Amino acid sequence: MDVFKIQGGQRLTGKISVDGSKNAALPLLAASLLTTESIQFDCMPDLSDIANMSNLLLELGCNVEQNKNSITVQVKDESTSHARYDIVRTMRASVCVLGPLLARRGKVRVSMPGGCAFGDRPIDLHLRGLEALGAKIELDGGDIIATADRLKGSTIFLGGPFGSTVLGTANVMSAATLAEGRTIIESAACEPEISDLALLLNNMGAKISGAGTPRIIIDGVDDLSGTTHSVMPDRIVAGTWAIATAMTNGDVSIERFPLDHLLAVTNILSTVGVHVNQTDPSQDPRSCTVQVISDRYLKPVMFTTQPFPGFPTDLQAQMMALLCLSRGNSIITEKIYPERFMHVPELSRMGARLVRQGATVIVQGVDHLVGAPVMASDLRASASLVLAGLAAEGETTISRVYHLDRGYASMEKILASLGAKIERIDGSTVVDGLPLIETVSPKKVIQSNG
Ligand code: EPU
Repeated sequence: MDVFKIQGGQRLTGKISVDGSKNAALPLLAASLLTTESIQFDCMPDLSDIANMSNLLLELGCNVEQNKNSITVQVKDESTSHARYDIVRTMRASVCVLGPLLARRGKVRVSMPGGCAFGDRPIDLHLRGLEALGAKIELDGGDIIATADRLKGSTIFLGGPFGSTVLGTANVMSAATLAEGRTIIESAACEPEISDLALLLNNMGAKISGAGTPRIIIDGVDDLSGTTHSVMPDRIVAGTWAIATAMTNGDVSIERFPLDHLLAVTNILSTVGVHVNQTDPSQDPRSCTVQVISDRYLKPVMFTTQPFPGFPTDLQAQMMALLCLSRGNSIITEKIYPERFMHVPELSRMGARLVRQGATVIVQGVDHLVGAPVMASDLRASASLVLAGLAAEGETTISRVYHLDRGYASMEKILASLGAKIERIDGSTVVDGLPLIETVSPKKVIQSNG
């Protein structure tokens, strides 16, 4: 288990580019199960979650070839349709093979994903959607078994207590492409990753309209074919780089920035005093170059996470790290995952003043954060600790960075290229963020407890 060691206080400057989106790529890869023709994906991010999904596709009878940032998938053997617990447990998004396998192979066995670090993550809406298409669903030994002869189009409501479901919409939309007749998904997720999946499916021969709105219409077809697809830029990684720049009062130019997909975030950032400006108005605002600069003093703000186009839950932790350094009290409410606050105690160890009440955290801005050994707990919480470490006085060590490798390719190299003092060290020489080889002075321990 590797560790990041950061010497805070370096201003980030320079130019970087945003990779393809993890959360778009996972259901896109799963959709290649819908045809026996080959699909080439370009702009694939180099992430452990992508490697996990590639392994799952191999187990499900696919050939998977990787060439730099391209991955080509072709189904060779359709006899297996079991996504084992070993893989589903490491990556919840394995559940997005459910719809494609059911539609194409008529049966699927997928391990029921457990909870995750930030609470319960049910899949009842996925199952309800597939049942509405005519699937029979059973539970056996912790696995979901879904079977159907041919799925039949239907009208399906996918809204739940916290809004729609992104991967549930991906599953039902993918399955409905091969169903008989018309499917209408009401209260569909509007996230850009769903539009990217619909683009791929339509290029494979599907008939989908309305993706990106709460009402998606799918007219089923008999067969789908191969194609080439370029994965959209990662809006969460892009937002993380913008916030990292602001945390260090930096000046960074970011290419392939999906500005149009981050309007809720850039709106909050501009209230705080962070300016994300498109540098060439002729570029497509879904993938353009922006310059990020911030005012000397940051202002507090109030925001709530919401489904797209609202403020994304996947940037809540990073924005909290930034607001720790604003002048005044900010209020953050989490409406997608009310328990997603694993970063709160760790940021507090770095001197942040945070008060949590249920799904709300009050952030009292402080002058500075102080470096400390902290522990990564989930992907986005870990990202917020890296950002806090970049801005903090002194040294921060972050253990369990494998969480970050799931969603940020070469994070330390990208930040180092912008001037950050960050290195990855072998975790076997470190315990809980403290190097084994170094004698820890009492002064250092007190400092690191912030
Ligand atoms: N929900 C239900 N029933 C369901 C499914 C979801 O009640 O059947 C609830 C969830 O508990 C949650 C809300 O609906 O409160 C939204 O969950 P959703 O299903 O949309 O989440 P997801 O599709 O499993 C994707 C991303 C997450 C991101 C969420 C919300 C992928 C691989 N994952 O998860 O990304 O937080 O949408 O935008 O696309 C991350 O990248 O760090 C990450 C966790």
